Amino acid sequence: MDHIRVVNLDVGYGDETVLRNLNFVIPPGMITVVVGESGSGKSTLLKALIGLNRPLAGQVFWGGERIDYDSEHSLAALYRRIGVLYQNSALLNSLTLYENIALPIRIHRHSTPRSDESARVHEVLGMVGLRGADGKYPFELSGGMRKRAALARAMVLEPEIVFCDEPSAGLDPLTASGLDELLRTLQGSHGMTFVAVTHELRSIGRIADRVLLLQGGGIRFDGDFKDVAGSGDEYLRSFFLLKDEAP
Ligand SMILES: Nc1ncnc2c1ncn2[C@@H]1O[C@H](COP(=O)(O)OP(=O)(O)OP(=O)(O)O)[C@@H](O)[C@H]1O
Ligand SMILES: [Mg+2]
Repeated sequence: MDHIRVVNLDVGYGDETVLRNLNFVIPPGMITVVVGESGSGKSTLLKALIGLNRPLAGQVFWGGERIDYDSEHSLAALYRRIGVLYQNSALLNSLTLYENIALPIRIHRHSTPRSDESARVHEVLGMVGLRGADGKYPFELSGGMRKRAALARAMVLEPEIVFCDEPSAGLDPLTASGLDELLRTLQGSHGMTFVAVTHELRSIGRIADRVLLLQGGGIRFDGDFKDVAGSGDEYLRSFFLLKDEAP
């Protein structure tokens, strides 16, 4: 079963359509990377997929079930199934790392016993390599640690899919590659599905199984990352800085 299926989707704001007539699927157990120039509509599309932006037309299906953007119930059910790693990490500075990560449990599963909560929080902290940092406040962490903490929070409810907006942006190359490796490991060992927006070419090369390239209000390329190098599409080649072969 496809995780997400998008059918004849138009997304935009008011009477401005940003992306028109999109049809694609997000397969489970893979990392799909959404790429495109600045302003091509990556964030707009991501917001529509996670119920934050009502499409102008068309449908989004999750595991065969259509998201009803008019129904609080449908959207609440969706939020329990996804994790989101926001671009700025969006941790709450007044809460410790433990409390930040426990927050989704307290909101969505408030009858969880404290001992189970604690076990799960420490488990995800371990998964992202932050064991022992549970008492720290976000402002006491480095940028890379904050991203990993935000990833732990995104995963704490065992979501079906984790959405990441620019996961390694603003990090030094070593820390960025560490975070990419972490995504890869989580995908590999837990079979998780990730949808990541990024325009860092090195990062795409490290994490992408599939690529969705947005351009001119539509999808320019939708396929396996390994097929990018062999494509004859000039726009795609220039986007990925591929050198044309010498004659
Ligand atoms: N809240 C909004 N209201 C109106 N127009 C918007 C809004 N957010 C984005 N847009 C417009 O939608 C288009 C796509 O923007 P979007 O933020 O999706 O681009 P992006 O691909 O994520 O770019 P970037 O790489 O710079 O983040 C742009 O023309 C932008 O001006
Ligand atoms: Mg964006």
